Amino acid sequence: MGKRTVKVGLLGLGTVGSGVVKILQMNGEQVTRRAGAKIEVKRILVRDMERPRAVEVNPQLLTTNPDDLLHDPDIDVIVETIGGVDRAHKYIEEALHHKKFVITANKDLMATAGDDLLLLAQKQGLNIYYEASVGGGIPLIRPLKHSLGGNRITRILGIINGTTNYILTRMSLENMDFNTALAEAQAKGFAEQDPASDLEGKDAAYKLCILSRLAFNSRVRFKDIYIQGIEGLSKRDVFYAGELGYAIKLLAIGEELQGGLVLRVHPTLIPLTHPLASVLNENNALFVVGDAVGEVMFYGPGAGSLPTGSSIVADLIDVARNINRQVENSIIENNFQEKRIVSMDELSSAFYLRLQARDKPGVFASLATAFGGEQVSLDMIIQKRSVQGMAEIVLVTHKVEEKNFNSALRSIQRSPAINKINSVFRVIEK
Ligand SMILES: NC(=O)c1ccc[n+]([C@@H]2O[C@H](COP(=O)([O-])OP(=O)(O)OC[C@H]3O[C@@H](n4cnc5c(N)ncnc54)[C@H](OP(=O)(O)O)[C@@H]3O)[C@@H](O)[C@H]2O)c1
Repeated sequence: MGKRTVKVGLLGLGTVGSGVVKILQMNGEQVTRRAGAKIEVKRILVRDMERPRAVEVNPQLLTTNPDDLLHDPDIDVIVETIGGVDRAHKYIEEALHHKKFVITANKDLMATAGDDLLLLAQKQGLNIYYEASVGGGIPLIRPLKHSLGGNRITRILGIINGTTNYILTRMSLENMDFNTALAEAQAKGFAEQDPASDLEGKDAAYKLCILSRLAFNSRVRFKDIYIQGIEGLSKRDVFYAGELGYAIKLLAIGEELQGGLVLRVHPTLIPLTHPLASVLNENNALFVVGDAVGEVMFYGPGAGSLPTGSSIVADLIDVARNINRQVENSIIENNFQEKRIVSMDELSSAFYLRLQARDKPGVFASLATAFGGEQVSLDMIIQKRSVQGMAEIVLVTHKVEEKNFNSALRSIQRSPAINKINSVFRVIEK
């Protein structure tokens, strides 16, 4: 006879924590039927007891003392929704030492310390569940762990940061400049007051780290990821990209090539016909290519109280089933291999380039010479306009080795005909 009630210690009652409570209140009966046990929140850790809450909870459940949850033998599972790295790390370790299952929404922590924590959980005969850490309400972790487990995954392409996707969508659809779109995202709650981690691409890189481990069965570290953000991106580039048939998206890309793994986050031009081009506003999506399944895409809300709570409640159902030994732990996460990381220089990409040249004869010829010298061939080249003797030139190259493109770029920079290189982005065709 299994446990009839699984008791939860909830760390945090903010956006995500209150979503979890709300879903258990809304759908408790159905969750009980699915889990085979009642899921009951026994204690909730907060910082400020007086703060108004988005959900109604019995005030006696609240505490500011973490030991009330972590040291309570009656609590089976700790759900961590406080965020940050150090404190959350400490609490999760403590929970595992006290023989509690753990569920977390914390991508920063899982990306930087996930390996160690998963190992500790295994040693303790427990498990850590982290569906909510990537893609909010979109099921991504479970499909990579289970449903696609029979595939050799060759590529994942993701829009996994809602803030930057919102900004890029507004710039594209409303012709807004970067700062106006950012201010609007902040006003609507899609961007934090300090949006640095999102804009610099770090948030997407944390998530790519977590997804790549599962997709490629490898011990990926945050430092393995090449990161370029979207700060200060010009609306001119968004406009020209559209004219050329592309959308600019901040893509998180993981690929397994013959030489190893390529892991990168950067603004990318993708054809408007690509399914990821139509992922708009704060939505997220992950496009996965597997050798058996072909191409699949997961799409939906990448954040928010109820969507993220939805992922955590699914994890709670798994924990309840696990406690009652009705399911085995999922795939083994501690036998990942070390795989070589391919450097960006070894990679081939197509590039978009916008530059400012003196509007004089011979400019195209000097560009052709610089590119030709490095075996860079051009797919498109357009002179956009001429203002005060300066012409704006936009070009897209065919796929070239990055190191060749970079040396062509250096010789263009030295050319007296070229005034300034405004922007350089990678282009992917599919
Ligand atoms: N927001 C989303 O849509 C989303 C989506 C996916 C993943 N996540 C992740 O989920 C986590 C939580 O995000 P959130 O948006 O829910 O944050 P939040 O709204 O700021 O809530 C954090 C909660 O944790 C409590 N807390 C923070 N530090 C604490 C401390 N030292 N001691 C006790 N309680 C503490 C706060 O207590 P008080 O309320 O008393 O201040 C608050 O209730 C983060 O790791 C985030 O990256 C969020």
